[in-house]
Amino acid sequence: MIQIKNLSTVAAPYVAQVSHKPRKNYKPPIQRGYISGRPMLELVNVTKKYGQAIAVNGVSLSIPAGSMVAVLGRSGAGKSTLLRMINRMAEPTSGEVLWQGKSVLQLRGSALRAWRARCGMMFQQFNLSPRLDVLTNVLVGSVSRRPTLQTLIKYFPPHERARAVLELHALDMADLALQRAGTLSGGQQQRVAIARTMMQLPDLVLADEPIASLDPANAETVMSALSSISRERGITVLVNLHSLEIARTYCPRIIGMAKGKVVFDGSPKQLDAAMVEKIYGRRKSAELALAPAVSTALSSIPTGEVA
Ligand SMILES: Nc1ncnc2c1ncn2[C@@H]1O[C@H](COP(=O)(O)OP(=O)(O)OP(=O)(O)O)[C@@H](O)[C@H]1O
Ligand SMILES: [Mg+2]
Repeated sequence: MIQIKNLSTVAAPYVAQVSHKPRKNYKPPIQRGYISGRPMLELVNVTKKYGQAIAVNGVSLSIPAGSMVAVLGRSGAGKSTLLRMINRMAEPTSGEVLWQGKSVLQLRGSALRAWRARCGMMFQQFNLSPRLDVLTNVLVGSVSRRPTLQTLIKYFPPHERARAVLELHALDMADLALQRAGTLSGGQQQRVAIARTMMQLPDLVLADEPIASLDPANAETVMSALSSISRERGITVLVNLHSLEIARTYCPRIIGMAKGKVVFDGSPKQLDAAMVEKIYGRRKSAELALAPAVSTALSSIPTGEVA
């Protein structure tokens, strides 16, 4: 029997089915032996055009393994497009995306599917199945690594169930394993979405405004969960945010985008008023200086509408 402190009685039977004995305090291993700090993800002069409009314009970035990076910018700055090109939901018009030195733009068929599985995507909408229980929602994350038939009949082997419970436990959510996902608060649902993403054993988490619909307390819980994932597991996390303050608090590196270009790339300390102005424009940055708390609402005003 596995001993895990505070694991709920609801969750315990699933964990008990595991034949091997995990460590007492569950901390998943650093992913696939990566050395934290080594460049893992590289974007070289990446551009995305939609007709004549340029969504992302010649972006070059080098992101080490295990980084926690915020991407900031006004609405329409190109943040989502940037993330989507990394997992190939959007194809760059030109440029190169490399993972561990190898192009991901050349991947086709099963190799492309495998790459997508290595990129955990998270969104503002949690994309859970509200009628299914929390545990089943989390187990869906392991689908890419299981035979199709097992998925169709919703057969999840005991060791996967145990891992799903442990992932929930790591996010303080194991007590709710058998509750219907639709009955949870937004913050709880987003934590379920994180646990589901972790079931993919991702190398990279691409989170597109994961806290945009959460209240401040839930936003902090979700951001600190993402931060732990990056620190403790060596997973690279790229997170699009509207809140300057949240980016400063949780992300040691901040990338600022404006009109498709990277206009800032540095630490929270380096993000001074002049840099904020570069990212958001003059009026917006003045407003931020007066009232940081309103940054989330203001930054949703599209590029061009504010001088
Ligand atoms: N599928 C598409 N077809 C045409 N234009 C698009 C498409 N996707 C994005 N764009 C355009 O590309 C630009 C960048 O969009 P993107 O969604 O990346 O911005 P964003 O920074 O994520 O904005 P927001 O903060 O509002 O989410 C915008 O001008 C947008 O209208
Ligand atoms: Mg977006």
